[in-house]
Amino acid sequence: MRLSAIILAAGQGTRMKSSLPKVLHQILGRPMIGHVVGLARAVHAQRIAVVVGHGRERVEACLTDQEPGDDLGFALQAEQLGTAHAVLQARELLQDHQGMTLILSGDVPNIDPLTLQRFIDEAADARHPVAFVSCVVPDPTGYGRIVRDAQGQVLRNVEHRDATDEQRLIHEINAGVYLVDNAFLWTHLGAVGAANDQKEFYLPDLFELALAQGGLTAFVAPVAQEFEGINTRAQLAAAETFARARRNDALMRAGVTMIDPAATYVDAFAQVEPDVLIEPGVRVAGRSTVAAGCLLRQGAIVEDSTLEPGVEVLPYSHIVGSIVRQGARIGPFAHIRPLSDIGPGAKVGNFVEIKKSTLGAGTKASHLSYLGDATLGAGCNLGAGTITCNFDGDGKHPTVLEDGVFVGSNTALVAPLRLGRGAYIGAGSTITKDVPADSLGVARGRQRNIEGWVPRMRRRERP
Ligand code: UD1
Ligand code: CA
Repeated sequence: MRLSAIILAAGQGTRMKSSLPKVLHQILGRPMIGHVVGLARAVHAQRIAVVVGHGRERVEACLTDQEPGDDLGFALQAEQLGTAHAVLQARELLQDHQGMTLILSGDVPNIDPLTLQRFIDEAADARHPVAFVSCVVPDPTGYGRIVRDAQGQVLRNVEHRDATDEQRLIHEINAGVYLVDNAFLWTHLGAVGAANDQKEFYLPDLFELALAQGGLTAFVAPVAQEFEGINTRAQLAAAETFARARRNDALMRAGVTMIDPAATYVDAFAQVEPDVLIEPGVRVAGRSTVAAGCLLRQGAIVEDSTLEPGVEVLPYSHIVGSIVRQGARIGPFAHIRPLSDIGPGAKVGNFVEIKKSTLGAGTKASHLSYLGDATLGAGCNLGAGTITCNFDGDGKHPTVLEDGVFVGSNTALVAPLRLGRGAYIGAGSTITKDVPADSLGVARGRQRNIEGWVPRMRRRERP
């Protein structure tokens, strides 16, 4: 069967009280509309038309950037006159396509692709011009209600604001997901009227047309939560909780240990391999990869970063845009900023900040340091309080430490600077000149001791 998809995303989302278009609010770090595009692709829609209106530039830019593909097209609905009118705007993009059109809402992001595929398969088998998903929810307020006759046959959908008190007691609602025969869609969509409370063109009014012209299939979704729409911030939070539980469940089934899945945050595009242990309050965000055998201790945050096998991130460390190689140990309380590369077996200890720097194998910066724009070889040891002075108020300058350099505590390394292989820096130095290989560099006032000075000073103070 040839399948196209239309995603409705032109509405403002007034109830979100947001300057951001509703469909760009995120679930697991991925915009809602991105999840829905992903769904259309998961069920093999060959062409996807996204109907945009409010905030269209931002919605189009977001999708083009984050969910690119030749299958994506945009249709403008300049005025939001209702869901049927929205679908009509996709006509030019899709009317030449044979087969069926799947219609999804940009604000219903949590559908399981397997459920959607089941709906499509059952709907295709039924061979009716229109099929839709319904579900039974505890609180149907705001949704369209599915009105059935005494035999249980669907008669129509009634929107909440058009429903009688009696109809409002119905808990079976229209989920806003449809599969429609293309020929039927483009022939009959124009016949949908706007005789309702909102004076809008309602897509579910197609149900009655379908019943008169060949039949209607209702698919009752087994898990209603998958089809919950997001109209408010509270619903956004509930959808996030639902999506997180499902994601964490899948990760645990695949072999990831979570001490407290309800307090574990793994983004939609982040990958976590088996035998990773995750403690509470950990966030693995963006396009991160955490390889097998890593330990993420409490409160660790890994964003757009790659952790190779066996890395341990100790509590409350923040790693962004970087790579941490096999067996390295980070933290507690370490901050690794973008474009850093922490070598195998390296150690970055507490209150160490690293920016755009490379550490070679086994190199250690164990306490209270700042390394910026620095390249360190293998086997270096930095004393507590080693600071690269990489910025002179004008520009950034590099610092290079060749293999095996030892830097004493409380040392300032003023860039640009190169410390040769095996060099040794005396504690408390401010190093401004390159140090050759195997040499001692020391730059501090010489100590002198004055014997008997203390009692003499005291006698002077108290005559
Ligand atoms: C809609 C359905 C309702 C169903 C519910 C499920 C209609 C008339 N009602 O109601 O039966 O229970 O979804 O979540 O279809 N949109 C446009 N252009 C428009 C209007 C809407 O693109 O002119 C988009 C919105 O951006 C949104 C989607 O269509 O993504 C649904 O619109 P919304 O206003 O949220 O409809 P509901 O009132 O939730
Ligand atoms: Ca909605």
